[in-house]
Amino acid sequence: MARRRIIAGNWKMNMTPSQAVELCATLKDLVNNDAEDVVYCVPAIDIVPVAEAIKGTNVKLGAENFYIEDKGAFTGEISAPMLKEAGVEYIIIGHSERRDIFGENDILINAKVKKAFAAGLKPILCCGESLALRKAGTYKEWIARQIKWDLTDVTADQVKELVIAYEPIWAIGTGETATADQAQEVCKMIREVIADMYDAATAEAVRIQYGGSMNAGNAAELLSKEDIDGGLIGGAALKPDFGQIVNA
Ligand code: 13P
Repeated sequence: MARRRIIAGNWKMNMTPSQAVELCATLKDLVNNDAEDVVYCVPAIDIVPVAEAIKGTNVKLGAENFYIEDKGAFTGEISAPMLKEAGVEYIIIGHSERRDIFGENDILINAKVKKAFAAGLKPILCCGESLALRKAGTYKEWIARQIKWDLTDVTADQVKELVIAYEPIWAIGTGETATADQAQEVCKMIREVIADMYDAATAEAVRIQYGGSMNAGNAAELLSKEDIDGGLIGGAALKPDFGQIVNA
């Protein structure tokens, strides 16, 4: 089974354009690894300068958000064709910060997944439970439901190109990482949900990342797990540590 590892940075609302270019220069030699996909998902205003800064390297470009219409009266939004033309390949969809702070629901997230595929962008679809759901023990049902909603009317061929990021909300930016066994348990369960919804070949192909306080110290153990095919990294993606994660 040969799923290609994908290590993606989610820069969130960090890095001015000049800082973004500087970070690309700092990381350039540290993330040079052709054996896996390395992606920078950057704020909209950094997309153009980062596209320029990563030219000729192995790094791929991603965005953090978009809206489902191609153009029109949607003040403040950015469209898939805009991202495509700027060289964006990957798009984060359904991050818990978009769900919780900006009120995005699974209906919109599903529309975004379908639009991204139609526009030739590869979604990184995020899912994950709150601390309350983890404590209540109902986190698996919750995550399975998120996946089913968010992939409504998405085809098996599309899911083979999909990246799913399991991000327990209680582990994001808190310094509290899920243990490798906790992360593996859910990533395996997600693959089983995909097998149920589609078939074994699709489940084998879909790439599943872990995200939540992943860092240079814990990456190797998390990435050694059978169903963890990569990471979606916040804080540690803004530092030279990201190179250690890429090479973990
Ligand atoms: P941290 O790595 O900062 O916990 O963020 C994880 C995350 O939300 C990535 O999308």
